[in-house]
Amino acid sequence: MKILITGGCGFIGGALIRKLLTTTDHEILNLDKFGYASNHLSIDQTINQLKTNKYKLFKIDLNNKNKLEEIIQNFEPDLIMHLAAESHVDRSIESPGHFIESNIVGTFNLLESCRKFFYSLNIEKKSRFIFHHISTDEVFGSLGEKGRFSESTPYDPRSPYSASKASSDHLVRSWYHTYGLPVIVTNCSNNFGPWQFPEKLIPLVTLKAIHSEKIPIYGDGSNVRDWLFVEDHVDGLILSATKGEIGETYCIGGFGEKTNIEVVEKICDILDNLNPKAFKHKDLISFVKDRKGHDRRYSINSDKIQSELNWKPKHSFDDGLLKTVEWYLKNENIFN
Ligand SMILES: NC(=O)c1ccc[n+]([C@@H]2O[C@H](COP(=O)([O-])OP(=O)(O)OC[C@H]3O[C@@H](n4cnc5c(N)ncnc54)[C@H](O)[C@@H]3O)[C@@H](O)[C@H]2O)c1
Repeated sequence: MKILITGGCGFIGGALIRKLLTTTDHEILNLDKFGYASNHLSIDQTINQLKTNKYKLFKIDLNNKNKLEEIIQNFEPDLIMHLAAESHVDRSIESPGHFIESNIVGTFNLLESCRKFFYSLNIEKKSRFIFHHISTDEVFGSLGEKGRFSESTPYDPRSPYSASKASSDHLVRSWYHTYGLPVIVTNCSNNFGPWQFPEKLIPLVTLKAIHSEKIPIYGDGSNVRDWLFVEDHVDGLILSATKGEIGETYCIGGFGEKTNIEVVEKICDILDNLNPKAFKHKDLISFVKDRKGHDRRYSINSDKIQSELNWKPKHSFDDGLLKTVEWYLKNENIFN
């Protein structure tokens, strides 16, 4: 297959590309604007090990519509996996405009380029083509003590980030219903693992603790997230894109519901073991003013992808967290 991946220099896209390069013979084209969270080192390392010529990178913003169209026509992908997005909620509260441009207008441009390309294909190539849109559980809003999000949960986004992702999901589904573009959508929970830019909770806390700096926690730390190890998410993405039903949505959760304070305390315990100091890492914890509109709880019901595509995560939260903290200990300066 020829696979075009957008946002492949980001955390999840990088893990996806490394997995595809090491386990398949697919040809991969990565389109990324090289934003502040991008990192190409992990893919470079894989390419050097494999000595493969099956990978190409093109630096482009999805808002460069003409160039985007040209690249897609020339590459002739069988599959598009669309991950490019501005992805940090706090930044969306500070500067929502970037989220509208990348996540909504960028997705619109990509869909339009794909529609033109799809219509130019012969019947056989048309029958193979798939547009896979990667989204988040944050589009569903916030849960109370009970309940889980599923494919039929109504949308109720609360932040500029989740609203921009919800908009992009709606655009993608409407290109399926209106223009017959063959799409698959996945909505996943919070990912964690090696190579995540240290502004998200787990890498931020881990690096602060390694450097003996104060560890900030929003509010009272009782917000709950359903943590998904990135390699398990990547397995779910590849299964959805290759075995999923056109027009369907699959929710991918990690079976890893934890409060933020539980997560931070676990990181501190791991570091007390792996990197003991004169004080306990928990002593660095400091509670700070809560995020505006902070969603209370996310939890995903992954029954559909489990029963229909036979997916389940291979890592428990604790296994994934240990791997992650060990990685940041070895690579603490990689984002400097
Ligand atoms: N990280 C998570 O926990 C999580 C959870 C659910 C869903 N998602 C979704 O998964 C996708 C990937 O997330 P991530 O954590 O890897 O994000 P990331 O911020 O690490 O990477 C995103 C990448 O997209 C690129 N990009 C952004 N806007 C672009 C544009 N206009 N043109 C070209 N490239 C652009 C950036 O340069 C970056 O390399 C996103 O769509 C995100 O909404 C992430």
